[in-house]
Amino acid sequence: MTVKNLIENNRGIIKERARQISWLEFAAMEEKEKIIFLNNSKTGNPFHVLFAQQFSRNSLNLLCQVADKARAIHKYRDEGRRFLKNLLFGTYALNFIIQPSTRTFLSFQTAQEILGMSIRDIRDPNTSSEAKGETLEDSVRTFSSYVDLMIMRHPDERAVEKGAWVLNKSDRRIPIINAGSGKDQHPTQALTDIYTLHKSFDGKIDSRTIVMCGDLQRGRTVRSLSYLMRNYQNMKLIFVSPFRLRMENDIKNFLDRHHIPYQEEDNLEKVISLADAIYMTRIQDEWDKGKEQGVQSVGPKYKFKKEYLNLMKEDAVLMHPLPKRHEIDEEIGYSNDKRVVFWRQERNGMWIRVALIAVIFQKEQKILKYTT
Ligand code: MLT
Repeated sequence: MTVKNLIENNRGIIKERARQISWLEFAAMEEKEKIIFLNNSKTGNPFHVLFAQQFSRNSLNLLCQVADKARAIHKYRDEGRRFLKNLLFGTYALNFIIQPSTRTFLSFQTAQEILGMSIRDIRDPNTSSEAKGETLEDSVRTFSSYVDLMIMRHPDERAVEKGAWVLNKSDRRIPIINAGSGKDQHPTQALTDIYTLHKSFDGKIDSRTIVMCGDLQRGRTVRSLSYLMRNYQNMKLIFVSPFRLRMENDIKNFLDRHHIPYQEEDNLEKVISLADAIYMTRIQDEWDKGKEQGVQSVGPKYKFKKEYLNLMKEDAVLMHPLPKRHEIDEEIGYSNDKRVVFWRQERNGMWIRVALIAVIFQKEQKILKYTT
């Protein structure tokens, strides 16, 4: 039997298994087992995008390369823009984003337009049939009757996974992308962050020290970004947070398993000079319970003050997934310091999402081969 036949046969088995598997069985699987049902068995790249662990160094490199090239093509005025628009012309995307979102929503929407997709959105769950008692499974199956790609942000950490499980069972198996699953993960923000590091360090992400500061317990962006560190050599993480908002053990265990050193600190100022990237996050006080007061209980030790720019290495970068509040001095965002990259990070988010959608639809070779 040829290798091609073998893969094709396995593909059939995987497809068949995906149709039979129950939600409880799927939910109980380890991530590495789930990935078999989420990634494209032919290319190895993600088809459904649920969590950061699905990305290999190869797939991250490919995404950065495609994002760079799509950007260059788009600059090539009308001809380049028309070429990009033709790639997915005649296809439809649904942005089912029912938690607050500015950047993720706008960057996905613009990325879809750049690639020529027509766009639908549902942002208020009270306007869809879930409000009439329809199950999430039935809603997802219904959405797939009308569109070719679904983006989902949902407060329930398992909702998007359930969506992928339903779609795998259906004869309209469209891809689904996690745009933020509760407190758990935000894989496309992590791709944005990797692309920002790639651009800031001229493609050389290995051997960097990254400081992550703020609400590390409930911030889904730092969780997803930590997972991606596995793909790089000699990375070091420094977690700075108040004691009660420390990074969860599941991430620390993952880092231990992959021999990625990390240390926990409670004073940002102390570690700034060690960092190649400082990744600030806001306190996720929408998850506060009862009388907890996240914003008020976090003191000046977790705030990036203007004078800290003087402590940063010359080629270090200051990042933030945004929205930001008091955790970064207001003036910093409008200083001309080139190391402050969070506005660029926003735009990078749009281009890496262009690349991700292009890769899911296997259009990356067309982009890479285009000559301007
Ligand atoms: C997110 O959706 O997780 C963010 O963009 C970061 C945040 O809300 O603080």
